[in-house]
Amino acid sequence: MRIVCIGGGPAGLYFALLMKKQNPAHEISVVERNRPYDTFGWGVVFSDATMEAMRAWDPDSAAEIEDAFNHWDDIEVWFKGTRQRTSGHGFVGIGRKKLLNILQRRCEALGVELVFETDVASDLDYADADLVIASDGFNSKIRNRYQEVFEPDLVTRPNRYIWLGTNKLYDAFTFDFRKTDHGWFQAHIYKFDDKTSTFIVETTEDAYEKHGLGQMDQQGSIDFCQDLFSEVLDGAELMTNARHLRGSAWLNFNRLICGKWSHFNGHSHVVLMGDAAHTAHFAIGSGTKLAIDDAIELTNQFNRHGHAKEQIPAVLEDYEEIRRVDVARIQNAARNAMEWFEVVGRRYADTLPPEQFMYSMLTRSQRISHENLRLRDKAWLEGYERWFASQAGVEPSADGRVPPPMFTPYTMRGVTLTNRIVMSPMAMYSAKDGVLDDFHLVHLGARALGGAALVFGEMTCVSPDARITPGCLGLWNEKQAEGWKRFVDFVHGNSTAKVGIQLGHAGRKGATKLAWEGIDQPLQTGDWPLISASALPYLKNSQVPKAMDRADMDRVKADFVRATELAVTTGADWLELHCAHGYLLSSFLSPLTNRRTDEYGGSHENRARYPLEIFNAIRAVWPEDKPISVRLSCHDWFEGGNTPDDAAIFAQMFKDAGADMIDCSSGQVWKEEKPVYGRLFQTPFSDKIRNEVGIPTIAVGAISEADHANSVIAAGRADLCAVARPHLADPAWVLHEAARIGLTDIAWPKQYYSGKQQYETNLARAAAAK
Ligand SMILES: Cc1cc2nc3c(=O)[nH]c(=O)nc-3n(C[C@H](O)[C@H](O)[C@H](O)COP(=O)(O)OP(=O)(O)OC[C@H]3O[C@@H](n4cnc5c(N)ncnc54)[C@H](O)[C@@H]3O)c2cc1C
Ligand SMILES: Cc1cc2nc3c(=O)[nH]c(=O)nc-3n(C[C@H](O)[C@H](O)[C@H](O)COP(=O)(O)O)c2cc1C
Repeated sequence: MRIVCIGGGPAGLYFALLMKKQNPAHEISVVERNRPYDTFGWGVVFSDATMEAMRAWDPDSAAEIEDAFNHWDDIEVWFKGTRQRTSGHGFVGIGRKKLLNILQRRCEALGVELVFETDVASDLDYADADLVIASDGFNSKIRNRYQEVFEPDLVTRPNRYIWLGTNKLYDAFTFDFRKTDHGWFQAHIYKFDDKTSTFIVETTEDAYEKHGLGQMDQQGSIDFCQDLFSEVLDGAELMTNARHLRGSAWLNFNRLICGKWSHFNGHSHVVLMGDAAHTAHFAIGSGTKLAIDDAIELTNQFNRHGHAKEQIPAVLEDYEEIRRVDVARIQNAARNAMEWFEVVGRRYADTLPPEQFMYSMLTRSQRISHENLRLRDKAWLEGYERWFASQAGVEPSADGRVPPPMFTPYTMRGVTLTNRIVMSPMAMYSAKDGVLDDFHLVHLGARALGGAALVFGEMTCVSPDARITPGCLGLWNEKQAEGWKRFVDFVHGNSTAKVGIQLGHAGRKGATKLAWEGIDQPLQTGDWPLISASALPYLKNSQVPKAMDRADMDRVKADFVRATELAVTTGADWLELHCAHGYLLSSFLSPLTNRRTDEYGGSHENRARYPLEIFNAIRAVWPEDKPISVRLSCHDWFEGGNTPDDAAIFAQMFKDAGADMIDCSSGQVWKEEKPVYGRLFQTPFSDKIRNEVGIPTIAVGAISEADHANSVIAAGRADLCAVARPHLADPAWVLHEAARIGLTDIAWPKQYYSGKQQYETNLARAAAAK
């Protein structure tokens, strides 16, 4: 086969050498526009896993690379006059030049033709090639020639960065955060050979503009960075090796993914590899790893299908399918890490104490969890747990132990929760005339005995026509209040849990069948008239609601007040106002469902006006010493709908009105929504609102292990975690999770103690048998 790699970066060189090694009969050329020793950039980092794969595929180059590697374990963070260090993070760094030179020599030794100083204009210049590898980097000319085929999806990120070097050697991957008059700057620093360290400086577009960095030449920028980071540089100078770049050399990162990775140009098969196909932000340093992994997988597919040119289409198809999954995974983690650095100034640096700032930084990709950190550096994590517990007012036990973050207490107004887990409100569609009866007593009571610190009943409707279904709970008469009181008394008498009531009105999503008879489907018989912000039906076949007039607003407000007054008589501890999921108050907040032209529609202030009226009215009658949280849909997941930025504006308004917490849910506002699900998928909304608006939050959504909850609470991404579906599967979810992470000094209901011991012993035995 005749193979031409256009571009001699890590992708092109490594693929060329692997293929030549597999089959020396292949005729392979790598064509590179630069000279052998010219390259932009300093060092790159690898993980141990990539090295292992390289060792398996080509031990010769792997051995040379390993010889040249600088290995380090520690991460050090300089922040607000503190220097914090943790260990066990295992990175290896190598100079980019060094890496390329090793790969170039290895290519030559195996008989790959290396052509330098040749700027390739087109893949058609190599019409004799069976396979053309477009390994020509992010600005790939080859990819750009076939835009319609490759469908590149490019997003330019807002931060600016400059890639510099220094001769000062650092013995840890070092991050330094510095505040200026115009915002924060951060340096990402790591040593990659025995003379040099990479020094990347990053900041927001705003700070970049206000400091005039766009108008400075490279030396001006270097002087600026040298001055700003003088403490960590300790007299060393910063250097550039990108003098060839015009202007200031501050770049924006571009996130790239392609719809298709290969194309037949009439002569040759052309396939994208490395940065030409995808990019991953330097915040998790995986660009070179992805390039190397691409090269390995393409070679692997030739080994599977056979090294004949007839196999190329099948090889390329499988290569793309496999690599696409891995790239998506890495890009996902890189996105979280990148976004952390984009908002770090206003969201974390200005608000979090140094200890929590460090924890938040270490877990920024959401791939490293609390228990991962324990494996990496137990002593550091235990120190952090002690710090966190002390903030929550917990003294260490005689042997110095403290509970992990999820099991620390939390106080809001006069209510103290024994841990950070909330059983999230969940409609059960099992009430008759809105009355909380035996089913609810057993269902909710079991969850209170099962360890949740705050147990919410389902959305409890403020009037008969406020119900979602005929089976929903209500709070508009004495009988319903008595049902609630029986449950509250049971919980208070038999557990340490507190009880929350979520008050709501279904609005345009009302008068529907029970969930198991057809979610959101309108009732065939026995329905009632619906009201909403605007006269828009939820489904095509849903009833068209009436757009509320002032008389409707006054009536519904009175219903909320009556429900709150009844809630007071139940002795419940906590109230939540349901302003999410497309129900009545949510329908005012979202521009998708609120098309009003009066003072209740249009601006944020207008859309929030009625929900705030309700909030103020219930706050006035709910006891001072008891909290009220507000549940918001923080993302409508649909073009033209609310985004987390809008949610933060509403959160601020509720905060100003005296709300204690925002319960950060999302969606269910617009039927055609396109949510992106995944582990902790709504936690970023809670993180944003808690740390930008400065109001405590509840995170909810796909939090299904103690490790998730610990990571979220410890990082300050939320104050409480609400857990819904896992509580349906396991009423004692909290107690079981405690046992799974080895926390045994936690109270079980006294009646269940012998079960506790057996459960813990069985878990310990199962772990020992592994
Ligand atoms: C600030 C920064 C820090 C980074 N840090 C890391 C890190 O720590 N770890 C990590 O793994 N990755 C890092 N990366 C990413 C990494 O540099 C790339 O992901 C990696 O080099 C991709 O390899 P590649 O072979 O696909 O592309 P490249 O390395 O870009 O190679 C493409 C090659 O093609 C050549 N070329 C382009 N067009 C033509 C043409 N028309 N004709 C001939 N030759 C051409 C170029 O000269 C170049 O040599 C970083 C990137 C940046 C910007
Ligand atoms: C059966 C069921 C009923 C629900 N009912 C309500 C409700 O009444 N009020 C509410 O705000 N959310 C309701 N939700 C949403 C949950 O409170 C929670 O936000 C969601 O399930 C995500 O959490 P999870 O991933 O832990 O399940 C319900 C969810 C389920 C599964």
